[in-house]
Amino acid sequence: MLKKIVAVLATLWAAAGLIAGAVLGVYMYRHINHPFYFLLPFVLLGGLGVVPSSLLLLLLRAKTWRARLATVAVYGVAIALAVGGPAAWRNYYETPRNGGPYLVWSDDPKTTMTVCWTAQQSVPGRVEYAAEGAAEWKPAECPATNYPKVKIAGLQPGAKYRYRVPALGGQEHPFQTAPAVPEDFSFAVYGDNRHAGGFSWHSSVMREMVREDGREHFRLILNSGDIVERPGKGYGWQWATFLRDITPLAASRPYEVSLGNHESGGDPPPFEDYFDYGHKEHWRTLDYAGVRFITVSTQDDIKPGSAQYSWLEQALDQKPADNRFTVVTMHKPLLTRDPRGKYNDPVMRGELEPLFAAKGVDIVFAGHVHAYEHHHLPSFEHVITGGGGVLLWAKPTPGPDTVKTETVWHFCAVNVKGKTMSVRALRTDGSVIEAFEVQSKR
Ligand SMILES: [Fe+2]
Repeated sequence: MLKKIVAVLATLWAAAGLIAGAVLGVYMYRHINHPFYFLLPFVLLGGLGVVPSSLLLLLLRAKTWRARLATVAVYGVAIALAVGGPAAWRNYYETPRNGGPYLVWSDDPKTTMTVCWTAQQSVPGRVEYAAEGAAEWKPAECPATNYPKVKIAGLQPGAKYRYRVPALGGQEHPFQTAPAVPEDFSFAVYGDNRHAGGFSWHSSVMREMVREDGREHFRLILNSGDIVERPGKGYGWQWATFLRDITPLAASRPYEVSLGNHESGGDPPPFEDYFDYGHKEHWRTLDYAGVRFITVSTQDDIKPGSAQYSWLEQALDQKPADNRFTVVTMHKPLLTRDPRGKYNDPVMRGELEPLFAAKGVDIVFAGHVHAYEHHHLPSFEHVITGGGGVLLWAKPTPGPDTVKTETVWHFCAVNVKGKTMSVRALRTDGSVIEAFEVQSKR
């Protein structure tokens, strides 16, 4: 009798877990239209119901102690593998692995290129490079470290080269320097690719970006920040995964990161281990083919009177004579239509929007909110491209300034042709969220 009661209760427990998982799964799927959002709660809650109750039912049915012990052993091994497997994998990746190579500009983009990678052993970094078509390989080196950054200097503007890193197997990668005069080109921009709760769809976004690169030939990849969940100890596996994901593109063109709140800080600060943009501040200017790219740090003081604000005024005032567009990349947005409201910072909108409007900014790419948002502001376009792979949840409510919102993993492909900038926001299957153009004000 007791056995029957326990069996009924166990069956009810399993059914309750499955039903609760399905109900929550349907609710989440209706919020974010992706199968993962059904599967996650269904597997977690369903598992919580089915695993203990099935174990109990099998133990009740078992006729011998040996059978009961074998059942417990099988369940124990399965649970240990499910829980311990990912933990062991993450532990393995805590120490620096051989990752990369990836490129950044730590100096003049017309005449230099900096090759970065991570090394398991701290040994001097060595790169060999050659002009396109030239037979002679030249060396460039840096001191011993687990995070080599080798600057190649003395290059020709607008010229094609190739390089190889012997420590990484010597595979050749092409790269090219910034042109001396404006020309048509494309770049990609996205952000918020970090893991959350162990999950990230960054590799899917990058796969589509690689496919799109076959048509667009991106010269530059911009990331609006939140590249890892936490920067320091315990999250080395996220840096390793991040480098694995970006290398197919970042090995052959610079990768520019606007510091996000998730990779800020740490002692020593790991962001600086991985990225060197030529100076200690997290804000910088890059002029490429008549486009001024301004990277703003929303993790540092940006109020009027701050060092960054003064620098920003100068960066916006002192544009090169051939400037046709000014593009700002920053992590936290000027505004968002996320209904939770907590991401709207009065300093961002109240102080920076008038400055950007007065100084001729053409478009802002931000992140932080896990969705795509496009707002048409009186003087410039404002895009949140925060669907680079992180778990999606934000579901913006369009306002009067909103052109388009969608909660989906995506990136933006931007083409600059003459005085027209064409922006296409693309989902991971290559379909278009929206496309729009910006005309040069110069
Ligand atoms: Fe963020």
